[in-house]
Amino acid sequence: MAKITVVGAGNVGATCANVLAFRKIADTVVMLDVKEGVAEGKAIDMMQTAHTLGFETNVIGVTNDYAATAGSDVYIVTSGIPRKPGMTREELIGVNAGIVKTVVSSCLKVSPNAIFIIISNPMDTMTYLTLKATGLPKNRVIGMGGTLDSSRFKYYLSTALKANPAQVEGMVIGGHGDTTMIPLKRLATLNGRPVSELLSAAALDKVVADTMVGGATLTGLLGTSAWYAPGAAGAYVAESIVRDYKRVIPACVYLEGEYGQKDICIGAPAVIGRKGVESIVDLNLNAEEKALFEKSAAAVRTTNDVLKEIKAL
Ligand code: 2OP
Repeated sequence: MAKITVVGAGNVGATCANVLAFRKIADTVVMLDVKEGVAEGKAIDMMQTAHTLGFETNVIGVTNDYAATAGSDVYIVTSGIPRKPGMTREELIGVNAGIVKTVVSSCLKVSPNAIFIIISNPMDTMTYLTLKATGLPKNRVIGMGGTLDSSRFKYYLSTALKANPAQVEGMVIGGHGDTTMIPLKRLATLNGRPVSELLSAAALDKVVADTMVGGATLTGLLGTSAWYAPGAAGAYVAESIVRDYKRVIPACVYLEGEYGQKDICIGAPAVIGRKGVESIVDLNLNAEEKALFEKSAAAVRTTNDVLKEIKAL
């Protein structure tokens, strides 16, 4: 009997709730939003698909009523403003830091044992803020960025390879930023074969470049940031928690020496199960990948430093 709350019933939050319901990942899904009636309306709309789509999940929408979320196993935090075309994720920090801090402390008052999945941007810094502001153990705070970036990487790989995306394996580690993410092209495979044997170096570099600006490309097309893949990525992480699947998911996790980094939340493959982050998988990175990871961590730290400047931490 799992209860999952999605905070923020905007495009990402509502898509996430819809995936949770449709895939029967929880018995109860609560959507909470600050805008009067929006979560309620979207929840009713979703429940009116229950018979058509054949799910028994109960989706409830509430306006700022944290009591209705009490006893949630997992909170998926999507609150805050999204990117507009031309904006970086990092530019959202001032507004979103205050929102995320308030949301997370309200959730903990009614669900002291919950695990948090952070989607709000800048995602690595919002994950770090959640961890530090609440003092929660590191296993209970997870950012979803790498999950999404890896699914974009697999999509671009599949189009370059003219292959079924479900048969492509690939991972993106590092920060969830246009210049900080690291699609691991060396380790990507199609049906067990390294993609470097199947694509030219130039084609593979294009896949990497397209992946890195995958979010910005969609923001340009849509006028706001994407929602289907971000929402599904949040639900995928939540599923691994409530069903204890122990999937290895490239997620934003707190590092204490792994990958040569400390006191930072950044993308690395982690085993995600009922306890949240159960362990971190230490990939054997080569010198070039290690250097990219260091550069990425330095950029994430620069954004984290803003938290102190704006007195969010
Ligand atoms: C994205 O990359 C919203 O950060 C999210 O689309």
